Amino acid sequence: MAAPFSNRQTTSTTTNHAPANVEVDASYENDESYGDQLSWYSASLTSSALDYRIENGRRYHRFRDGSYLLPNDERESDRLDMIHELFLVLLHRKLYLAPIKNPRRVIDLATGTGIWAIDFADQHPEAEVIGCDLSPIQPTSVPPNLKFLVDDIESEWTYGRDPFDYIHARFLAVSIKNYGKLVKQCYKSLRPGGWAEFQDWDGYPLSEDGSLDGTALQRYFNEVYGAFAEAGVEVRPGPKLEQWLKDAGFVNIHVEKFVVPFGVWPKDPHLKELGAWNQAQAEASGFEGLALAALTRYKQWKTEEVIVLASQARADGRRRDIHSLFHFYVVYGQRPEN
Ligand SMILES: C[S@@+](CC[C@H](N)C(=O)[O-])C[C@H]1O[C@@H](n2cnc3c(N)ncnc32)[C@H](O)[C@@H]1O
Repeated sequence: MAAPFSNRQTTSTTTNHAPANVEVDASYENDESYGDQLSWYSASLTSSALDYRIENGRRYHRFRDGSYLLPNDERESDRLDMIHELFLVLLHRKLYLAPIKNPRRVIDLATGTGIWAIDFADQHPEAEVIGCDLSPIQPTSVPPNLKFLVDDIESEWTYGRDPFDYIHARFLAVSIKNYGKLVKQCYKSLRPGGWAEFQDWDGYPLSEDGSLDGTALQRYFNEVYGAFAEAGVEVRPGPKLEQWLKDAGFVNIHVEKFVVPFGVWPKDPHLKELGAWNQAQAEASGFEGLALAALTRYKQWKTEEVIVLASQARADGRRRDIHSLFHFYVVYGQRPEN
């Protein structure tokens, strides 16, 4: 079947930042500095709470109740802000990679704590920026050119009547049911010549040397993502983004693929730092946070069973002989000028 807009010339380029093999650091002496850095960061964070549902000791969104399976409490907000730092390290302090120039109207989809949108609004005072999320967990004191909305980005957009110059969506894995449709909605909501950028995971970890195989860490992801599949939620959008952008009609598509290790096992200092942030965010909330609602609501697990699996996964995550990593993708494309 022909894809829509198949008559258009779709250009596509790929940059692969994922090294063929990630070298293991045999000396563990320099790892302690990461502990200090991470505890300072977590202590300095706060978040706000307005609307919620409490379950298994965690707080969840109320608007479109049940559609997103991760909590929206302070622990989760701390985790999201740590992930923001992880992404800044990954992209060498850049907030985005698309070649945008003086964008006037910008939206950050599923903005979370709004931390990306706040940084972007500060850097682009000329732009009117919207951050949209199911949960009202963003701060109230923000740059004057930024406003936050509570809405479901998988519903028809009311704020898309005036076209956007730039649409940003980061880490929508474990959130979205019909990601391809969302990409088409983005295309429709851009002005001709505008850009959309998606930064997202392949949510399944892997190891190049087989050290993840048969571990509790691997079982954790298999079980939890089995429940997400039951809920119909996309957990590995990263490698599919390029095709979704082509199908929607985007041109000048560019794909950048990265490695994000889990833990401080790599020798390379940049990969080691990424691995430290990745482990820190998972420990801040992620292991129970990702698993509780999914496994109890969709697989009928008992809370205690989830907590045991999460703690086994956490213990494996600390092991230096398990060399797990994730792939992360930044994919952007342009709506044609005419
Ligand atoms: C993993 S977080 C990522 C947050 C943010 N994009 C970032 O990179 O820091 C996913 C966010 O998507 C939001 N979300 C999930 N489904 C959504 C939907 N259908 N509409 C709007 N927001 C949604 C969640 O509330 C959560 O804040």
